Amino acid sequence: MSFKKILVTGAAGLLGQHAVRQLQEQYDVSGFDLKAGTAAIDWHLGDLADADSLKEAVAGQDAIVQIAAIPNIWSGTGAQTMQVNVVGLYNLLNAAEEAGVKRVVICSSDSVVGFTVAEGAMVPPQYLPIDLDHPLNATDPYALSKVLGEEMGRSFAARGKLEVLVMRPVFVAYPEMHDEIRARALAPENYKGPSVGGPSSAGGGPCWHHIDPRDLARAFQLGLEMEYRGFDRFFLSANVTLSPEPTLERLANWLGYVPEIRDPAVYDDTPHAPLYDLRHARDVLGFEAAYDARKTAIF
Ligand SMILES: NC(=O)c1ccc[n+]([C@@H]2O[C@H](COP(=O)([O-])OP(=O)(O)OC[C@H]3O[C@@H](n4cnc5c(N)ncnc54)[C@H](O)[C@@H]3O)[C@@H](O)[C@H]2O)c1
Repeated sequence: MSFKKILVTGAAGLLGQHAVRQLQEQYDVSGFDLKAGTAAIDWHLGDLADADSLKEAVAGQDAIVQIAAIPNIWSGTGAQTMQVNVVGLYNLLNAAEEAGVKRVVICSSDSVVGFTVAEGAMVPPQYLPIDLDHPLNATDPYALSKVLGEEMGRSFAARGKLEVLVMRPVFVAYPEMHDEIRARALAPENYKGPSVGGPSSAGGGPCWHHIDPRDLARAFQLGLEMEYRGFDRFFLSANVTLSPEPTLERLANWLGYVPEIRDPAVYDDTPHAPLYDLRHARDVLGFEAAYDARKTAIF
């Protein structure tokens, strides 16, 4: 299926800007956000809470890349996070369905699995690599909002009008964060750097996962271009973590044990491979990360 008109929500934000830049060359892109960004595109200013502004923004669009959100546990209260990420997403999906939009690519998060950045609230993985059958153990409002958002996407897709593809990126390592990532890698035990969105800005959960925003923007485009799927989900990560220790050693240090390894070859071949199974994204979406901040930012 080929789309022409794409609405990017959250287009003025950190990730939204990358998505706009990636999509601009091939699509007629417009942006929806609380405020206009710097990109030279049409801007629809509005709030996900406001059905009228959404109605105007989605009219005539072929597809939507849904990025607007409270993006972490530090950027809003639990109630605000639910209001924007759950009710706001419902408003958007509802408006999209009514307007005859064909596809929505939703930016979720790997936090649905349970590796919250809220200290003391992490649920260890049951097995590795974590695939789409692994239980979801959201323990903070942000992660919970993403679980509920994914479920809403599945529900809308089941109604048969909208296709919904859910992206689950890990921590997005924006190039402007690389100095900080490097500082943490050099002094992991006593790193107390400034925060980008929160107190442990280098992010990425216990294994320091990362993905470059340019890779993620490309994954959104692949989500617009892949063959029809009513509903699907994809873990998205660089092929290696930013952790000093290899993944299984890191887990052993963190948990005191290593969970069941269902496919040892993954960690034999790539000792710093992420906790997530990237094969579905590779096989179905055709996504392979091109950027590796381990090489470019740290070593
Ligand atoms: N940054 C990460 O490491 C990371 C990791 C996984 C997933 N994500 C997801 O990526 C997306 C973007 O994150 P980001 O880092 O660009 O954050 P950001 O805060 O820079 O961008 C979010 C954008 O959404 C807009 N927005 C917020 N509430 C809105 C509302 N009610 N109505 C309309 N627009 C609204 C904001 O104005 C902002 O421009 C989010 O969905 C986030 O959950 C981020």
